[in-house]
Amino acid sequence: MTWASPLCYAVGRGRTKYGSLTQSLSDLLCEAVGEALADAGMEPQDIGAVYVGNFLAGLYENQLHLNSLLWSLFPGLKAPVIRVEAACASGGVAVYEAIMALSRFPRTLAVGVEKMTDSSVQRSTQCLAAAGDAVFDQREGVVFPASYALVAQQHMLRYGTTPDDLAEVSLKNHVNANLNPKAHFYGKRVTMEQIKSSPMVASPLRLFDCSPISDGGAAVVLSRERLDGRSVPVLGSAIANDTLSLSERSDLTTFSASKAAAAEAYRQAGIGPRDIDLVQVHDCFTIAELVAMEDLGLCEPGQAAALVREGRTGLKGDIPINTSGGLKADGHPIGSTGAGQIAELMEQLREEAGERQVNCRHGMALNIGGVGGTAVVHILGGVS
Ligand code: COA
Repeated sequence: MTWASPLCYAVGRGRTKYGSLTQSLSDLLCEAVGEALADAGMEPQDIGAVYVGNFLAGLYENQLHLNSLLWSLFPGLKAPVIRVEAACASGGVAVYEAIMALSRFPRTLAVGVEKMTDSSVQRSTQCLAAAGDAVFDQREGVVFPASYALVAQQHMLRYGTTPDDLAEVSLKNHVNANLNPKAHFYGKRVTMEQIKSSPMVASPLRLFDCSPISDGGAAVVLSRERLDGRSVPVLGSAIANDTLSLSERSDLTTFSASKAAAAEAYRQAGIGPRDIDLVQVHDCFTIAELVAMEDLGLCEPGQAAALVREGRTGLKGDIPINTSGGLKADGHPIGSTGAGQIAELMEQLREEAGERQVNCRHGMALNIGGVGGTAVVHILGGVS
């Protein structure tokens, strides 16, 4: 098989720990960007453009204009800094934009960041709802867990998916997170019994079906040219959108934006779902992992739960999914998540993932904003 030539190379990765942290937004930006630059062997002045993904700082802390904030943190930086926002897909969109900017600059940087745990969960729920339609969703009380509960109910009705299937996704991701020292729930032992008896949040989604409220940051340095043996080829990068309000969707069991972005990324990469052997998907709620597997073409619609039950998506399976622990257990600092997924793919494809290392050649990431309103897909690996 002939693969397409890479769009570019991912040459540096940085990732803070995810969780309830004492660090500020600025601290998280400094750590993620500093680590990514050091990993790439670069200084701030080597970068031509910076894209910073963030969703909530304006609402939580009245802190917008991260363009200038980030610039002031890195005195050597000469590059313009551009803030991007696409709800939970802000980090993925920052990576996409940084790749696009390589047509103009030889090296660019994408960083995603979120500081969430200084606010109450009630306030977070209210702010997160801003990712949905203000009139048709928010005003009706359709907050995030409620939206994904509707998706889960429809999936259960159509395909016979069960709460036990969702619990399997949760357990797998907690097991993976226990091998990831930077994960939000690293060190938390979780049993199936605990998952299944956890409090109901929005039926059928229980506490352990939800991603947590996390702080964190992640950054990726992109380069037009391959630098060395640790440079990871980027083969596909695509974004697609769908309606903002769920009330405008005809089918809640699938996200058309994920399918469209995946189709374009596969086309760019010159490969198909069968060539993918490592996936990071946007499991903000466990049902989202099953829907993502189906939308990415990793299985037929309605078949994802069977793959999970058979252990095929675990670290020892043939299609490992969310090796980091996913949003469920690695954590979900909104703006950081999409960039963090790329950092995990890089770690795996460079064979630097330690105890959670899997055998992989092509890795794929799906980062979603809202309830499928924005989807960003990246494919890395392959040719070197
Ligand atoms: N999964 C597992 N355990 C969780 C958890 C989660 N998602 N969220 C919190 N916990 C645990 C905490 O670690 C804590 O455990 P401890 O008592 O052993 O220390 C306990 O539950 C209580 O934590 P608390 O922060 O008080 O939880 P909460 O009940 O206030 O919040 C949710 C729980 C589910 C409401 C909150 O995590 C949430 O809103 N998640 C969804 C976030 C979201 O919508 N993101 C965007 C999606 S795209």
